[in-house]
Amino acid sequence: MAELIAATVRSKPRAVLGLATGRTPETVYKILGEKHRIEGLDFSRTVTFNLDEYIGIPAEDPRSYRGTMEESLFRHVNIKPGNTHLPDGMAVDLDAECRRYEEKIAAAGGIDLQLLGIGLNGHLAFNEPLSSLTSRTRTKSLTPETRAQNATFFGGAENVPSRAITMGVGTILESRWCIMLATGESKAGILREAIEGPVRSVVTASALQMHQRCTVVVDELAAARLEHKEYYRWVFQNEPEWLPFRPILSR
Ligand code: GLP
Repeated sequence: MAELIAATVRSKPRAVLGLATGRTPETVYKILGEKHRIEGLDFSRTVTFNLDEYIGIPAEDPRSYRGTMEESLFRHVNIKPGNTHLPDGMAVDLDAECRRYEEKIAAAGGIDLQLLGIGLNGHLAFNEPLSSLTSRTRTKSLTPETRAQNATFFGGAENVPSRAITMGVGTILESRWCIMLATGESKAGILREAIEGPVRSVVTASALQMHQRCTVVVDELAAARLEHKEYYRWVFQNEPEWLPFRPILSR
C-alpha cells in the first residue's frame, strides 16, 4: 500500500491523496515516513484530505484525527501544513464546514487516490449503516459499535465523541482510485459482505463495488472468508498492470 502511494506521489508531484485513520494504515504511514527519510520521497507538492474528524475534539488534542495524522505521518515528511486538510470538528457552523470541505476537494481538482479502511460494521470513514450511498460530507452520529471499536484511544467507549464529520459515500466514490486496506481475522466476515455481498447502505463499504477503479489490499486473515479468493489470486498473478507491485504485495 505504501508503495502504491509512493508511486502515485512520484508520478504526480501535485497528487491529491485521500487519507484514512484507524489502526490499519498506521504501518503504511510509518513506511511512507521512512521512504521520505531514506529515499527522499518528496511530499512538498502533495495535497491531502482526510476522510473524517470527531466533533468537539480540538485539533491540538492528540486524540483528534488531526492530531493522529500529525503524529503518524505529517511531521515525518516534508508536506506543507497548508496542504493537509481535515474537516474542522470545532467549527461553529458544522453544516457550512461540511460544504466548505466539499468545495476544497473540488478546488484541488478532486482526489487522485483515496486510502480506505473498513469498520467492523462495514462503514467507510464514518458512514454508518443506512448512510445514503450518494451522501456528501456531513455530520453523522456514531453507532455504539463504532464507539466501542475506538474506545482504546479515549479510555472507554463512553468517552468517544458521539458525532463526527465525514466525507459522504458519494464523495468517496468520486475519487479517481479507491484503495481499501483490511487486515486481521476480525475483518474477515465484514470484508466478505462488502466485497461479495449485495450493495446496500447497511454496509457502506459495499458501495465500492460501484467504483470503476477500486483495489482491495488484504492479508490472508482478512481474506479468509472470501468465496472467490483463488480467482482473485489468479488475476493478481496474471494481470500485467500489477507487475511492478507484485513482489511487494505478495510478500
Ligand atoms: C474509524 C475510521 C475509519 C476506519 C475504521 C477502522 O471508524 N473512521 O475510517 O476505517 O476506524 O479502524 P481500524 O483500522 O482501527 O480497524
